[in-house]
Amino acid sequence: MKALVLAGGTGSRLRPFSHSMPKQLMPIANKPVLVHVMEDLRSLGVREAGVVVGDRGGEIAAALGDGAALGLRLTYIRQDVPRGLADCIAVSRDFLGADDFVMYLGDNVLTEGVKDIADEFRAHRPAAQLVVHPVPDPRDFGVAETDATGRVLRLVEKPRHPRSDRAVIGVYFFTPAIHEAVAAIEPSARGELEVTDAIQWLVARGHDVRARLYRGFWKDTGKVEDVLHCNRRLLDRLKPSVVGEVDGTSELLGAVVVEEGARIVRSRITGPAVIGAGSTVEDSHIGPYTAIGRDCVLGAAGVEDSIILDGARVHRVSGVHGSVVGRDATVSAEAHTGGSRLVVGDHSSVVVAA
Ligand code: TTP
Repeated sequence: MKALVLAGGTGSRLRPFSHSMPKQLMPIANKPVLVHVMEDLRSLGVREAGVVVGDRGGEIAAALGDGAALGLRLTYIRQDVPRGLADCIAVSRDFLGADDFVMYLGDNVLTEGVKDIADEFRAHRPAAQLVVHPVPDPRDFGVAETDATGRVLRLVEKPRHPRSDRAVIGVYFFTPAIHEAVAAIEPSARGELEVTDAIQWLVARGHDVRARLYRGFWKDTGKVEDVLHCNRRLLDRLKPSVVGEVDGTSELLGAVVVEEGARIVRSRITGPAVIGAGSTVEDSHIGPYTAIGRDCVLGAAGVEDSIILDGARVHRVSGVHGSVVGRDATVSAEAHTGGSRLVVGDHSSVVVAA
């Protein structure tokens, strides 16, 4: 079975970060979302994956390379305009050939993996096998209506009156039967080729389409609050390891990772927390639930429940929580500025204590 990982799209909900990086490279517990996806694919026994990319494909290829470090062979497939999830299958037609494949949205994280669901697909090879997950408000999702055996009777996109709370999430298993469906459908009202329409096409023609329940933690990391939520859940599994330097006056509590070349000086780090390679933390209180990237500098800072991206600096600011600080950004407090001075990029959001 091959994999098709979707890493194009516009990422408008993850602005301002998606202005300067593909959202699939957003670090969660100090690893890009796409690396979590690739690790999950490996655990399904996949060895060969196509990665659909848009304008930012170069950055994705620079981060993942040929995939050898992840135990995968990667082929990059260009989608010139994000025309929808089914279009991703169409542009990957040559790569997919006559193989079965798992399609994985490159911004989805499933912490428990879907090995059992993949095994079942391999054993029975229905035309499509969807992964569903209970959600509090199914009206925002595609919902699969099934019979008692899990056979899909109907797929409804954003139902007003959902008959089930089981949303279709971002991992799909397909046999080559999907290609005929993708070729047959027309763009939706929003101008995209919808994978839901292609699957519904299969259902309507009597193909076997199955839905299987995934009970673990799942998140679509399309928005900042979802990225932070996912960061907390992945940090909960952190295995402590200290490779960098921690001075005698600093204290590490709970699961803390201090990567190579990082320095902790006169500080308290409360896990789960990770301090990235080459970063310096001085006179600060960090964590819990904080991931600090590479080459950051934090001085007299207080940060918890946050993600600090590579090269960022936080100085003399405490009480930072629920925050994401972008690459090479600076957050600082100065005594004599006569008020606050903000240089805030497009689509940013700043909330200060009232
Ligand atoms: P979405 O999150 O649905 O789409 P998006 O990236 O356009 O996000 P936003 O709504 O914030 O603007 O896409 C799910 C995944 O599929 C994501 O990793 C991007 C990818 N994708 C493609 O590769 N090509 C496409 O045409 C679309 C629509 C999405």
